[in-house]
Amino acid sequence: MAMEAWFMEDSDSDPRLPHHRNPKEFVPLDHLAELGVLHWRLNPTDYENDQELRKIRETRGYNYMDLLDICPEKLNNYEDKLKNFYTEHIHADEEIRYCLEGSGYFDVRGKDDRWIRIWIKAGDLIILPAGIYHRFTLDTTNYVKLMRLFMGEPVWTAYNRPQEEHPARKEYVESFTKKVGVALKAH
Ligand code: LAC
Ligand code: NI
Repeated sequence: MAMEAWFMEDSDSDPRLPHHRNPKEFVPLDHLAELGVLHWRLNPTDYENDQELRKIRETRGYNYMDLLDICPEKLNNYEDKLKNFYTEHIHADEEIRYCLEGSGYFDVRGKDDRWIRIWIKAGDLIILPAGIYHRFTLDTTNYVKLMRLFMGEPVWTAYNRPQEEHPARKEYVESFTKKVGVALKAH
């Protein structure tokens, strides 16, 4: 199945639940692309020899790579890290994650500041643009193995909201929010 994304209900209960609205409101992938969120579906079983992945890395200059297992046994300060991942933030650079095993949710802010939940599973590579407000949580399967990619020396610094004066935020708002406004009106 294609990667699914949906508008979230307002709720403070367990973040690892899907939090669909009632009725469900799915978000098409081309709408995500208008927000600057890009996606590829790759074959995760042989990622070391995957020519498609190699091509994406080459084209976009992602020379850095590491693997992150998110589970209590393999991640130091598991609770703290998960708490930080789920605190709404931006980065000065793209966040590029390739799901090799397990699954999880990347939530991004769409038009009118609405939360869009993106469900990534093994084979999904997503790129969040610099400056987009987002957060991450595991889902109820409680495990994900992610490849992290980066251009040059990695910087993982998260800037928690509000960040309206951050250059990456300003640039994001400039290049995407306006475009989305126009694009949505045209629909
Ligand atoms: C993050 C984790 C999911 O940076 O890699 O949010
Ligand atoms: Ni992040």
